[in-house]
Amino acid sequence: PPMSSPEEERLQEDFISSLPSREGWPQTLIQYEGYWFKPKILEGVLRARRAFTPRADDVVLATQPKCGTTWLKALAFTVATRSRHGLGAADHPLLTRHPQHLVPFIEIPGATGGDDRVDLGALPSPRLLATHMPMSLLPPAGCRVVYLCRDPKDTLVSRLHFENKLAARGGGGGLSMDDAFGMFCEGFSPYGPFWDHCLEYWEESVARPDAVLFLRYEEIKSDPARVVRRLAGFLGVPLSEEEERSGVAEEVARMCSFETLTGLEVNQVGGVSHGSRVHVENSVFYRKGEVGDWANHMSREMADKLDRIVQDKLQGSGLLF
Ligand code: A3P
Repeated sequence: PPMSSPEEERLQEDFISSLPSREGWPQTLIQYEGYWFKPKILEGVLRARRAFTPRADDVVLATQPKCGTTWLKALAFTVATRSRHGLGAADHPLLTRHPQHLVPFIEIPGATGGDDRVDLGALPSPRLLATHMPMSLLPPAGCRVVYLCRDPKDTLVSRLHFENKLAARGGGGGLSMDDAFGMFCEGFSPYGPFWDHCLEYWEESVARPDAVLFLRYEEIKSDPARVVRRLAGFLGVPLSEEEERSGVAEEVARMCSFETLTGLEVNQVGGVSHGSRVHVENSVFYRKGEVGDWANHMSREMADKLDRIVQDKLQGSGLLF
C-alpha cells in the first residue's frame, strides 16, 4: 500500500492536534468535517483521503459501526463470490475466516486479520470494500454503495456494550447508559452524528437508486432471503432460475445468520487488528443480534426522547426509523 513519508505523518499529526476534541467516550474523539472520530481511525480516514483510488466497478459496503457491518460483509461476500466459492463447499471462506476479514475497510488498515496491511490497489476488480466513513468523506467515485443502517436505539445499545467490552479488556471503567445516551443525543458518538451519517447516504440513494442501495438491519432480520436477492441484483449477479429453485437465497441467509456464524470457531477465537495498536477479539462483533434489545437497556422516556431528536433531524427527508 502507498506508505506515507515521515514528513506526511508529522504534518498529519499536527493537523489532527489542531482539530476540536472532546472527552466522554473511553477514547477522546476528534471532530473532522462535522463527524467525530477516534484518533487512530481519523489517521486512517486522512490517509485514505490521500491515497485511496476508487474504481468505477468497486462496490463499497458502508455502515456506521454496530449497525450490522459484520453481517453485511458476510452476506455481500457470499453472494458476490458464489461462482468461485460454492455455497456448500467444505472450504468456503466463511467457515474459516471472520466476515470482518473477508472485506477490507478502506480507512482501517490491518482490519483484515494478521499483521499485513491489505494492498487495496493490488486487489483484482471488481473489488468488494467496506467503510464506516460518511459519504461526504468518500472520494466522488460513482461506484456502487450498499448502505446499512439500524434503529438508533439498538445501535446505541450495541455501541455501549462494545465500548465497555473494549474498556474492560484494557482494565478501564465502563460507561453508563445515561452518559452514552446523553452524548449520542448530542450527536457526539464515534462516526456521529448518527443521523447525518444516515441522511447523506439516504439522500444519495433517493437521487441515484442504481448507485446506492439503502438497507436496514431490521429488514434483513425479518426477511434475509429477500435482501440476498436484492443484493445479488444490485451487485450485478442476480439469482438465476436454477438458483431460485435450489434455494440459494435461503442458503446464503442461513450461512450468514447469527446462529451459524456464532457457532463457528473462527468467530469465537482470535482477533482483528485495527491498525497497529488496536486489537479487537473476533467474538466482540457478536452479542445478541436482535431487534429491539434497547427496551432492556433504556427507559421509555429515553427512547421517546431519542426518537424525537432523530425524527426532527430527518424531517422532510423521507427517512424514518
Ligand atoms: P448487538 O450488539 O445488538 O447484538 P457491527 O458488525 O456493525 O459491529 O454490528 C454489530 C452488531 O451486529 C451486534 O449487535 C451484533 O450482535 C450484530 N450481528 C453480528 N453478526 C450478525 C448476524 N450474522 N446477524 C445478525 N446480527 C449480527
